[in-house]
Amino acid sequence: MRYEAWSIVNEEMDQAKRQSRDALFTIGNGYFGIRGFFEEDGRGISALGGIYSAGVFGKGSYAAWEGDSRELCNLPNALRARIKINGRPAEGPGENGLQESGEAGFFQKLDMKQGIYERRYPYTEEGAKAALAFRRFAVMDERWKNVIGQEIEIRAEEDGLELEVEAAIDGRVTNLNLESCEPLPVQPGRNHITRWETGEQSLHVMLDYKETEIHMCQRARAFAAGRELTGSLTNGEAEAGILFRCRLEKGESFRLEKMIRVTTGKESCPQAELPGYHEAEEAHREAWAKKWILSDIRVDQAENPDALKDQAVLRYNLFQLMAVCPEHTDRLSIGARGLSGEMYEGCVFWDNEIFKLPFFIYTNPGAAAGLLKFRYHTLDAARRHAGRNWFDGAMYPWQASEDGVEQTPYNVGAFYAVHIVSDIAHAVLEYGRVTGDREFYERYGMEILIETARFFASRCDWNGEEGVYEIRAVRGPNEYDVYVNNNAYTNLSAAENLMAAYRAVREREEEAEKRFSIRPGEAEQWKKIAEGLKLPYCKERDLYEEDDAYFKRRELDMKRAKPTGKRIIDSTLPYEALPLYQVTKQADVVLMMAMYPSRFTDKQKRTAYDFYEPRTAHDSSLSYAPHSILAAQIGRTDEAYRYFCRSACLDIEDTQLNTVSGLHFANFGGTWQAVYFGFAGVRFENGALMINPHLPVQWRGLEIAGSFGDVTARIEITGTRVTVKRIGAESRKTDGGGKERPGGQGTAGAGLNVWVEGKHAVLEEDQDMITVERGGESHVAAGCNL
Ligand code: BGC
Repeated sequence: MRYEAWSIVNEEMDQAKRQSRDALFTIGNGYFGIRGFFEEDGRGISALGGIYSAGVFGKGSYAAWEGDSRELCNLPNALRARIKINGRPAEGPGENGLQESGEAGFFQKLDMKQGIYERRYPYTEEGAKAALAFRRFAVMDERWKNVIGQEIEIRAEEDGLELEVEAAIDGRVTNLNLESCEPLPVQPGRNHITRWETGEQSLHVMLDYKETEIHMCQRARAFAAGRELTGSLTNGEAEAGILFRCRLEKGESFRLEKMIRVTTGKESCPQAELPGYHEAEEAHREAWAKKWILSDIRVDQAENPDALKDQAVLRYNLFQLMAVCPEHTDRLSIGARGLSGEMYEGCVFWDNEIFKLPFFIYTNPGAAAGLLKFRYHTLDAARRHAGRNWFDGAMYPWQASEDGVEQTPYNVGAFYAVHIVSDIAHAVLEYGRVTGDREFYERYGMEILIETARFFASRCDWNGEEGVYEIRAVRGPNEYDVYVNNNAYTNLSAAENLMAAYRAVREREEEAEKRFSIRPGEAEQWKKIAEGLKLPYCKERDLYEEDDAYFKRRELDMKRAKPTGKRIIDSTLPYEALPLYQVTKQADVVLMMAMYPSRFTDKQKRTAYDFYEPRTAHDSSLSYAPHSILAAQIGRTDEAYRYFCRSACLDIEDTQLNTVSGLHFANFGGTWQAVYFGFAGVRFENGALMINPHLPVQWRGLEIAGSFGDVTARIEITGTRVTVKRIGAESRKTDGGGKERPGGQGTAGAGLNVWVEGKHAVLEEDQDMITVERGGESHVAAGCNL
């Protein structure tokens, strides 16, 4: 892989890595996720493409908690191109044309600044030489979210090249079924299309779940040697397209530009509404440029040979988060593998709120509100789920599809993985703390807090002997414990949840009692439970225990248990052996401390880090980032940097060997947190922006931006100073409805309290920036006025 500041480039053609690179080169706009597949390759799994649309599911293979399971559906391959050069099919590198690994000329690039994926290679067959280039983008501009643009360019490198290019929408697809690690168990995935109908350059299909209708239409134009070509329609079985033919002399080019529009439901898909290719591309670039204003992080690196790598891989993580966020609706959220693969059936987990959401809260609060509203709109399903399990309130499902119904197969742990419930409450609180969005809190947030508190009140038990409340039979973030009593992480976040609900009711007693039918004494009971919930802790060692029994377990020889990068359960021990040992699958107490930094002393954090880090297998992508954050917070920046690198490169280097089944979106959020909460040491709470940087030696400086209450600002951090600069016109504001507030642009007018390493400074209402010197004497430089 080669790194440029704004792109990642692969110049190695390796068939064994083709499918995982397809996932890596995924692009999207929140409506679509499109894997980096080769549109001209119609062989085997490559012919199936890999285009997903947010919320479009097909019928799955197992019985879930309410009816059939479902899975994210691979849509018809609307980018399909059949290319023939001098009568021979050109089906991509490997078969003809460019050969296997290491051949010169192959080039695959993701331009993260503009959200464009590009691929090129030379085609060389006897008597035919050409240069092939492909580009695609899912339009980010909100007017055309359901539109994809594709461009193919073929330049003749020899005279007399006879070219045929068919641009099609191919409905003969199944799911990819790349559910596990490489080497791939390639079996045909399910076919979700039950009916199809072709029209003029359009395909209409019906899916096997809820009879979902998908309409796809395209408009393709082709040019050769300066003139537009006329194509002939080529409808076939479950396929619609258009064929262009031309003859090229050396140096002449053929160029195809194609726009595709996809609609779901009854609405059909008029071609006339498709924007022009260049018009769409320009709007797309502008939309991406706007996105980067608050989201970008710039790294200034010392004499580091990997200088560009850190910058590029970090941007890759941020790019993918923006590219997957369904900003066009508040009825959907982001699946564990986003729209880049089918693992976990496209469902949403707890890591959505804990790992991904903070990125949106700080850099795009409107989008964060939309994602949280998905949880609000699925409260009824969560209430049903609580009821059927004999609990009160709302029990959010461990694995949710578009309607919030539990999708985890029955009997595999969804019953006890209850921290998802308080994780969602935590996210509601975090959103409120950072944005101060009262309207959201009152219309949506309060109800989530109250219903989830009701769940925990019915889920906990009183332990008379110890005089504490307990939450028994749960599974914490460490899934290797199978199930435990009093997982510290779960209990602490449940206590936060219960207390927040108590405060919500107390704050507006009369209204809350009526609106939520609060029973007499109910809120007081939440407070009592919150204050009495057990947090396993060993006083002598000043060490928090992951659960009631962790210290009693056997030590595990990690070298023996995990001799390679493979997960323990895939290599050395069965799942049921693990509760015997002190082994942590992924950050658990470490995550808890990174999430509640002011709840624990530095000493407690160090003690916990030293105890749990060697016992952690990192057998989930959710482990590295919390370790990076906590290590930075306790000043171990080398360690923090090491974990940052593992987190940032997880998919790029496919370190867990399962990128093929989709990218790890929560880990992308974790990478952002490692930089924002760890290295930059930023928190915004109660109207104050706290900045406690811990830069690694590899970085000379860091520049981040964010939305802090009413102020949007850029923060520049160097070894000696911190500068906070107000961002004006480009800033985004939320109206509590997840939309941009019309005209809500400049932030002048609001002041900002800033604390840098404990020194207080104020960005006054009429000030553009302030600088605070780091270390030594407190010195706040005069800012410049607006
Ligand atoms: C992790 C879970 C996570 C799931 C989906 C698993 O590997 O252990 O915590 O929710 O992946 O991301």
